[in-house]
Amino acid sequence: MDLNETVCFCGGVTVGDIKAAVEAGNTTLEAVKAATGASTHCGGCEDKVAELVRQFVG
Ligand code: FES
Repeated sequence: MDLNETVCFCGGVTVGDIKAAVEAGNTTLEAVKAATGASTHCGGCEDKVAELVRQFVG
């Protein structure tokens, strides 16, 4: 997985940003959205963000 890959183009949020947010204790989609700003603009990336949260939460 490329941690530098952008997941949310509106917010400029990368895979690595999502991973860091989960590791910081944000283990739900809503928490990660609030922490990173991902999926808080057009919302088009929400499925991708949710999938990454699931993966990183394990
Ligand atoms: S691409 Fe993530 S909110 Fe638009």
